[in-house]
Amino acid sequence: MRNTLNVFGILAIFFTWRLCDSITYKLTNVKCESFNKSWVTINECRLKAISRNKTIFNFNATFHHPASHIYLDYELLKRESGYKPWLYKKRVDCCRFLRKPYDALSILIWNIYKDVSNLNHTCPFTGDILIKGMYLSSQKKTLPFPTGEYMLQMSWLFYRQVQFVTNVSYQFIESLF
Ligand SMILES: *[C@@H]1O[C@H](CO)[C@@H](O)[C@H](O)[C@H]1NC(C)=O
Ligand SMILES: *[C@@H]1O[C@H](CO)[C@@H](O)[C@H](O)[C@H]1NC(C)=O
Ligand SMILES: *[C@@H]1O[C@H](CO)[C@@H](O)[C@H](O)[C@H]1NC(C)=O
Ligand SMILES: *[C@@H]1O[C@H](CO)[C@@H](O)[C@H](O)[C@H]1NC(C)=O
Repeated sequence: MRNTLNVFGILAIFFTWRLCDSITYKLTNVKCESFNKSWVTINECRLKAISRNKTIFNFNATFHHPASHIYLDYELLKRESGYKPWLYKKRVDCCRFLRKPYDALSILIWNIYKDVSNLNHTCPFTGDILIKGMYLSSQKKTLPFPTGEYMLQMSWLFYRQVQFVTNVSYQFIESLF
């Protein structure tokens, strides 16, 4: 009996490890839109396939005036015959966050962007805002979500008005082989 339990325990660990070993995230779509072009123009918002399993995100926008009151509303949607709200909806005070990151999920998302962007400083933000070569990979640990297609919908508010949106879709696949 004990031995059987041990065998199951070892198998469980083995399979869990195999699962973790073969998780793939892949960017599938991006969409950006400015609602106030006198403040924000979006010059580039594009995915680029680098290889079969690596797609990168490049973003370039210009803030024509400094912004020092910035909020981000984000929501995670999961696709099942159309995108449906899924689990998370949050508002982040970006200027406060950049002084001292708070909220676990927001920190997780920030960690994906901070090294490939020029956003790593405190407010105000002005001029060209860049993200170069952001990608998702099996190396970058995120939450244990079920397999599927997701969209991270982000609305950026300056002084309480939505100025632009950036929507990033990605696939999350657990390969069992
Ligand atoms: C649009 O941008 C201008 C600055 O270029 C700003 O004065 C105005 O308040 C913005 N409109 C909204 C609705 O936020
Ligand atoms: C970002 O876009 C602006 C306006 O098109 C351009 O002048 C600038 O060179 C771009 N920056 C990068 C790093 O591509
Ligand atoms: C910016 O990056 C540096 C070095 O990676 C890090 O020490 C610092 O905490 C970052 N600042 C913010 C606001 O994330
Ligand atoms: C992409 O696939 C190749 C071979 O199929 C593999 O060696 C590599 O680690 C993969 N890269 C990522 C980022 O998953």
